[in-house]
Formats: sequence, structure tokens, C-alpha cells
Amino acid sequence: DGSPLVKYCGCWLQVMLFRPVLAAQKHFKAKSTDILLSTMPKSGTTWLKALTFSIANRNVFPIDQTPLLTSTPHMLVPFLELNVYWEQDNPDLENIPSPRIFSTHMHFELLPVSIRETDCRIIYICRNPLDQFVSHIQFLFRNKFGKDADPAAMDEAFEMYCQGIYSFGPFWDHILGYWNAHLENPGKVLFLKYEDLKEDITSQVKKIAEFLGLPFSQEEEEQGLIDQISGLCSFESLRNLAVNKTGITLGVLKNSSFFRKGQVGDWANYLTPAMAERIKKLMDTKFEGSGLLFKT
Ligand code: A3P
Repeated sequence: DGSPLVKYCGCWLQVMLFRPVLAAQKHFKAKSTDILLSTMPKSGTTWLKALTFSIANRNVFPIDQTPLLTSTPHMLVPFLELNVYWEQDNPDLENIPSPRIFSTHMHFELLPVSIRETDCRIIYICRNPLDQFVSHIQFLFRNKFGKDADPAAMDEAFEMYCQGIYSFGPFWDHILGYWNAHLENPGKVLFLKYEDLKEDITSQVKKIAEFLGLPFSQEEEEQGLIDQISGLCSFESLRNLAVNKTGITLGVLKNSSFFRKGQVGDWANYLTPAMAERIKKLMDTKFEGSGLLFKT
């Protein structure tokens, strides 16, 4: 989007995020009950926030009184490196009720050590890079210019994306960092895919709950709680809430811009066959031998 980038420990970050990332590394003290949601932008962050908040707080708020009806998921789950460390170097996070849920776009390697060294849990969601790229460029353009990206801007951003010189890039390192951490310790890092949630939300909601040590009881299942949570957090349901149709998050991002199409495979409407081929080849090379596969 034209913001200057800085390379730190092999990771490309917007310059404005450098200080908050360092502050988070220096000051953040994880608790073993914490939940960290980690994503590359436009991979399903909003969805994961809504689902995790609903699952973790299902005994606190009945579905018809959940704060998600009146707050965007982004207000309920603060960004570790953005909101929390933006203004102050050492904010008071002790009094947030447990489980504290934070989210971040930081690469695994850049996480504060206490996150890796305590029993706090990490949920990562990734999305096939073709859709993630298209969603990201459209998000930037819609927020900045109120319209879709033109082909020239798309070409330029695409080139940088493929070179890895991109906000939170290279995408392959971001994804592989969490994938390898998941393989090493699956009880610590849950690795989800946007496409799997689209295909079968019920099994993925159960998986999240089990991972958090909060499995649904038979009674809850019979009451239809999984369907209620999945329904509340669906694209259509969240997009249609008044709170997500107006207002801004982080001072500049329109709440409505977090809900565009919510589909798998929308890249085919924007990328030329040559562009798609280039990303697919890159994925084949970078993910070779990792066991990681994407539905596109
Ligand atoms: P599209 O631009 O392809 O529509 P993030 O939340 O990480 O910023 O990602 C935003 C992307 O997820 C957008 O993708 C958005 O439409 C989609 N999205 C937002 N909420 C969703 C939901 N509840 N279910 C499915 N997709 C959702």
C-alpha cells in the first residue's frame, strides 16, 4: 500500500509496526490461560476472533446477549502489537479477565518469548495465498480509495508479494513458521485453514473448543450450541450487524471493509492465469516437503 517496510529477523513489517512489535517483545507477559490468535491479514482474523470469543465465553454470555451483537470482533479481541502497544510501552493487562484473548499478525519468530515459553495457546488460521493476496489488495484499496484495485496497482503489489517484500511477508515464511511450530507441539499451536472452516464449520468449531480444553458437552451439542455459534459468526450474520456496517477500527479501517465476499476462489476473478501460475509454483517450491496443502 506504499507504506515503508522494514526487514527485521527476516520478516517484513510496516515501519510503523516496528516499535510496537519490539515493545510487545519486551513487555508482554503471557499467562498460561491466554489465547493468542495469529494470522496474516485477510486470512480469517475477524472470523476466528468471533468464533474464539464465542466459544471461550459461552458460559458468560447467552448467545442472544453476546457483546458480538454490539461490538466488532476487533474491539473484543485486541491486537497485541497494534492496539495494546501502540500508545503505551507497558499497558496494564493484568486485570483483563481470563482467558485473555489477543490477536496478532506477528511472525511466529517475532512473538514475545513468554508466549512460547508458557502454556498459553496459539490458534493460527491461514488462507490460500491467492485469495489472501486478492483480499488484501482489495481491502487496502477500498479503505484508501473506496474502490477496487486497478490492474496496474494489482500488478505492482503482486510483484512485491511474490518477492516476499510485503507487509508480514514473505507469506511462505509466515505460514511455515506456525506450521512447523504446530508440528512440533500440536497442543500448543492449532493450525486452521480458512477453506476448511468454509467447508465444514461444525467440525472446526468443535476442534477449536477441544484445543482450548473447553469441549462441548453432549448437552450443549443437543441444545444446538455449536450451530448457534457458527451461525452467529458466519459471514452473512456478522456482515449484516449494524455495528459491522458502520464505524471504524484502529482509527482508519472501515468496519464494513472486513466483510467483502467471504468466498473461496475469488482470486479467479482478479488474477490472470499467468499470475495464478506464478503463485502456485512459488507455493509448490516453498511448501515442498512440509506436508502443507491448500485448497484453492
Ligand atoms: P474477502 O476479501 O475474500 O471477502 P480478516 O478478517 O483476516 O481481515 O480477513 C478478511 C477476509 O475474511 C475477507 O475476505 C472477509 O470477507 C472474510 N470474512 C470476514 N468475516 C468472515 C466470516 N465470518 N466468515 C467468512 N469469511 C469472513
